[in-house]
Amino acid sequence: MAARSIAVALLTASQNCDASALRGRPNTLLNTGSEPRALLQDIVTWDEHSLFINGERVMIFSGEFHPYRLPVPSLWTDVLEKVKALGLNAVSIYIDWAQLEGKPGEFRAEGVFDYDAFLTAAKAVGLYVIARPGPYINAEASGGGFPGWLQRVKGHLRTNDSDYLAATDNYVANIGRIIAKHQITNGGPVILYQPENEYSGAVGVEFPNADYMQYVEDQARTAGIVVPFVSNDASPGGHNAPGTGKGAVDIYGHDGYPLGFDCANPNTWPAGALPTNWHATHENQSPSTPYTIPEFQAGSFDPWGGWGWNNCYELINHEQERVFYKNNYAAGVTVFSLYMIFGGTNWGNLGHPGGYTSYDYAAPITEDRSVTREKYSELKLEAQFLQVSPGYLTATPGDKSVTGVYSPSSSVSITPIVGANGSFFVARHTDYQSIEPTTYTLNLPTSRGNITIPQLGGFLTLGRRDSKIHVVDYPVGDYTLLYSTAEIFTWKQFEDKTVLVVYGGPDEQHELAIKTSAKNWKADNGLTVATKNGGLVVNWETTSTRRILQVGDLYIYILDRNSAYNCWVPKTSSTSSLIVNGGYLIRSATVSGTTLNLKGDFNQSTSTLEIIGVAKGVSVLKVNDAVLLYTKNAQGNWQIAIPYVKPVLSIPDLAKLDWKYINSLPEIKPGYDDSKWVTADHTTTNNTFVQPFLTPTSLFASDYGFHTGALLYRGHFTAAGTEKSIYLSTQGGSAFGSSVWLNDTFLGSWTGTDASAANNDTYTLPNLVAGKPYVLTVLIDNMGLDENWVVGPDQMKNARGILNYNLAGSPAPITWKLTGNLGGEDYADKTRGPLNEGGLFIERQGYHLPNPPVKQFSSCSGGPYAGLTKPGVAFYTAQLDLALPSDTWDVPLSFVFENNTAAAGGAYRAWLYVNGFQFGRYVSNVGPQTEFPVPEGILNYKGENWIGLAVWALESGGAKVPGFTLKAGNPVITGRQKVEVVDAPGWKARQGAY
Ligand code: GAL
Repeated sequence: MAARSIAVALLTASQNCDASALRGRPNTLLNTGSEPRALLQDIVTWDEHSLFINGERVMIFSGEFHPYRLPVPSLWTDVLEKVKALGLNAVSIYIDWAQLEGKPGEFRAEGVFDYDAFLTAAKAVGLYVIARPGPYINAEASGGGFPGWLQRVKGHLRTNDSDYLAATDNYVANIGRIIAKHQITNGGPVILYQPENEYSGAVGVEFPNADYMQYVEDQARTAGIVVPFVSNDASPGGHNAPGTGKGAVDIYGHDGYPLGFDCANPNTWPAGALPTNWHATHENQSPSTPYTIPEFQAGSFDPWGGWGWNNCYELINHEQERVFYKNNYAAGVTVFSLYMIFGGTNWGNLGHPGGYTSYDYAAPITEDRSVTREKYSELKLEAQFLQVSPGYLTATPGDKSVTGVYSPSSSVSITPIVGANGSFFVARHTDYQSIEPTTYTLNLPTSRGNITIPQLGGFLTLGRRDSKIHVVDYPVGDYTLLYSTAEIFTWKQFEDKTVLVVYGGPDEQHELAIKTSAKNWKADNGLTVATKNGGLVVNWETTSTRRILQVGDLYIYILDRNSAYNCWVPKTSSTSSLIVNGGYLIRSATVSGTTLNLKGDFNQSTSTLEIIGVAKGVSVLKVNDAVLLYTKNAQGNWQIAIPYVKPVLSIPDLAKLDWKYINSLPEIKPGYDDSKWVTADHTTTNNTFVQPFLTPTSLFASDYGFHTGALLYRGHFTAAGTEKSIYLSTQGGSAFGSSVWLNDTFLGSWTGTDASAANNDTYTLPNLVAGKPYVLTVLIDNMGLDENWVVGPDQMKNARGILNYNLAGSPAPITWKLTGNLGGEDYADKTRGPLNEGGLFIERQGYHLPNPPVKQFSSCSGGPYAGLTKPGVAFYTAQLDLALPSDTWDVPLSFVFENNTAAAGGAYRAWLYVNGFQFGRYVSNVGPQTEFPVPEGILNYKGENWIGLAVWALESGGAKVPGFTLKAGNPVITGRQKVEVVDAPGWKARQGAY
């Protein structure tokens, strides 16, 4: 985070935002160079308000999803459908270069890395894609997405130093080709392309470097990218905005994480964090492009030793969505993407050291793909509203929120967004942190003059940390709302009626007025109706009972917010939709002939459905392809109860599995042969970050091609007999650990803390015999490579391994050998990619893969629960057979470590492998993660699986895993596509393995 503050300070200094020349330019010209040039396609265009796709004005409301954090391609559709069901119309994706080019020049994007399949799936679901392949992404990914071999590039990363640029060429050419194929111009979903990410600050190098940005853009164009370029500045700094010359993008965007990432005090919103100048800044920086926020905080990352997702969720919850997202609408955002909509998992060492295995992010969709968080439902309310409010796109935001103009109450601030096709008044607490409810009245300018609202008496209420959008002169099909204090969820014009759904918070008073001359209406109990200003005014207090007001063929369904949460608006064609009340998730609705087929998910409490707006002529209902009988209620809506019988789940007791054991630290045994190991013999290094270079030869792991997972060093020396101690400086990133042995004698460990990326320790040596050879074995946990957020220092090159050593009292030189994963950049496992396995003995041998040669292992009834009696690394593996309902049920599973330091007997680390995929790194003395979700598809729910635990005991008494269990979450009846178990090749004797 310190790095971030430096760069933020720099941003202000290096603003370059002379955009005045752009005013009034036609939208078919780009102004990225010194001269305007023509657009390369005419499908995605824009003006100062919004994008157009095929000539149609659209709001892009998107969520960030990293396919690489969910390595089960058949589940991508599941997540995409959950995004679409919210009312979002796009996903934004980063792509992790480090996974695709483990060896320079060898690009692989197959199987779980198949972006071609991902983009095909997005198209099939009907979502646009904003492609963000980097090369630099940040993203809490190891190296910020940079492959480890970039540590050997001497030039500055993210600059136009030629060796860095050359290093990026192969990746961009290959990934660019895949993305280009799926552009909208070729019938695909990709509408925008983001070159670079947060190119926003630098220390010690030229910045901004126009030649560099231009190179990154030219690379993409050369690969066939023709859709517009969008930027993602780290704050509204105007970098590379149109009109800034060489390297400028087509559409300027910046991101925002106003509440920060400190989940320690989740109930405290920091003061002064609500941005109130973003609209004005945008008008200054990029007035001719739609206001674009390519990343907006939808959760938080959490570091080792952090507070866990529940805390982060409390900080960035539905209230944050209400106050902060609505504040962005008040600033006129029309290209808007939430980071993250689904976080996923840092499986296979893909994360950076600032995070643990789970990348749940407290996002709207949880890591196990459930949609139970309130923020998912709140987001749906907002996104569906914007979908039916095209007037928002051309309305003009007021410069800022004001008090005393639209409401006499000083405790409420209101931003106007005034348009010809509806106006929007965004109300929030003047003190946006306020957790006290406040009452207020409105004074809104309408087509019938200024009106004080509520007209029929009472007060409006803004609950704790709330914000509301009050509409004025708002079109609802053939009707117009003069105003509504209740918020709009959706409205639809059906063949025979128009249905409008509005909602309010619990017990709130609301009022809306319809511009109508109708003198007849039908109102449910609890609604007060009067005629005023030539219209109809309705006033009510929100309760959990739904009320309906009918005027002509307009039906206004008045709900409380919790009931609105239960509603869905699946499209049946590009122009028509249904409104569905109920269901845990409604994924889609298709009408074919006389049959309506709903695809959805149901749990115990959401199994009653009401379907509003079924077309005449449709008479048969299918739910997840099965015909079901429905009834019609008083409103003519279809009603149906979905049978839910909770399945009996047989969840195996992991303690009863047939565990096999093998020692995973043969390296400390007498006579261990390391002749096949790499000798650390480089007398120079290109690593410009870790300077001065302190050892006779480089001991930086990446200098030898080892970029991921555990590292082992063996230092050979012939004793002089005078040795006193060995000083070792090791570095593995936050929360790393290291252990040291002399021959088979344990010297000590660094058990790790979240605050320490490196550690210096001096270990006392026993008396050594002069002339006798000795070996030091050092095991170091590489927690991933640092990100490279600030340009210039090249922090991503921060080395892993041994930084320095000193054999005190001895002239004896040490010859070091080292290993990481077998083969280094010629990594052994092409299916699971270059990052999945590290340098542990069992990983080098491939014993973590399914069907290892257990005949060579020992039986051990206690398995990991019995553990180790001394420091070392043990590997436990077992076959796990599952027989779980799968095709029509979604059953989340996770592996749970019991967090019990006393029972463990000492600090330990564990790597969890599931069918060879590393799906968990547990650090008992740091935490916080104890529960590790593993998706179906990695687990075979109907057959054989292999699980493995490599347990590293760091302290003298050894350690055991006190509890390790498999846990099932709530089963949900699902309409998702069938999950295909991913290819997980089993163990085969590995050539040359040591
Ligand atoms: C942004 C960055 C993302 C991610 C995010 C924090 O600034 O663009 O890649 O790191 O911060 O989760």
